[in-house]
Amino acid sequence: MTPAAFLFLLAADVFPHARHGELNLKCTFCHSAAETKERASFPEWSRCKTCHLEKTEVKFPTRRTYRLPDFVFFSHTRHAAAKVECAGCHGEVKVQPMPEKKAVTSMAACVNCHREAKATIVCTACHELGQ
Ligand code: HEC
Ligand code: HEC
Ligand code: HEC
Ligand code: HEC
Ligand code: HEC
Repeated sequence: MTPAAFLFLLAADVFPHARHGELNLKCTFCHSAAETKERASFPEWSRCKTCHLEKTEVKFPTRRTYRLPDFVFFSHTRHAAAKVECAGCHGEVKVQPMPEKKAVTSMAACVNCHREAKATIVCTACHELGQ
């Protein structure tokens, strides 16, 4: 499908990933830092304007699904470098109307994969000492 220009958004306060699944956009088209920084980042409205003409701008994020407590270290770039795919932690976002918390962000979920992948399970890798 070619990018369908001139679409007007009726409900522009949310971004339904599933409605864009067929376009096969790269995740990093919008989450531009997901492979290079700790935080994946959210897109500016200008990204949407590639295809949509809605005049009312939306500031993203409008909601949050994945959120770790402050005492946990997490880095997207470290995982991207180790070739862990987005779906390994977020599920198939492409078919989710809205991101769902498919994979739990519990300590057990992190540690289980770290054990399997032979990555570190040292406490201080994910937690600062003395906290
Ligand atoms: C190893 C697991 C893991 C992988 C792989 C992963 N994420 Fe995440 N993602 C998380 C966790 C955990 C959070 C919450 C981070 C926080 O609150 O500090 C998060 C947060 C996010 C957020 C919210 C913004 C932010 O960074 O806090 C977006 C957007 C996101 N991820 C997109 C992606 C994309 C796109 C990919 C693939 C390029 C990806 N993630 C790969 C675990 C992962
Ligand atoms: C590459 C082109 C492209 C980009 C970029 C794009 N969209 Fe879309 N969007 C589409 C197409 C095509 C559809 C219609 C899909 C369908 O009919 O199922 C759509 C549908 C939608 C819908 C559903 C509209 C309805 O009538 O229910 C919303 C909401 C939406 N997009 C919001 C956004 C937002 C917000 C962004 C930026 C974060 C964005 N889109 C970026 C192409 C794009
Ligand atoms: C066209 C832009 C666009 C593309 C492409 C895109 N996303 Fe998103 N994504 C968004 C926007 C916008 C939000 C925030 C929605 C909101 O704030 O209501 C979001 C939210 C998310 C979240 C929820 C983060 C949180 O903690 O709230 C995850 C996870 C995510 N995206 C993963 C992905 C993955 C994985 C891919 C690739 C399969 C992808 N996204 C492709 C625009 C995009
Ligand atoms: C799907 C598998 C998987 C999941 C789930 C996962 N990780 Fe990882 N993690 C890895 C791999 C693989 C590495 C890379 C190890 C390396 O670089 O040698 C890694 C590396 C890391 C590192 C860098 C460690 C170091 O050597 O300094 C931290 C910190 C980290 N992960 C935190 C987390 C946290 C926090 C979570 C849960 C929210 C999590 N990870 C979930 C697979 C995973
Ligand atoms: C791979 C990353 C990772 C490693 C390694 C890790 N943790 Fe955690 N830990 C987490 C995450 C993520 C949370 C937050 C869980 C949540 O939000 O429910 C957490 C939460 C905690 C909490 C808060 C209690 C709770 O249940 O919420 C304590 C205490 C803790 N960890 C101690 C440790 C100790 C001690 C070690 C070493 C034996 C360790 N952690 C190793 C990721 C990790």
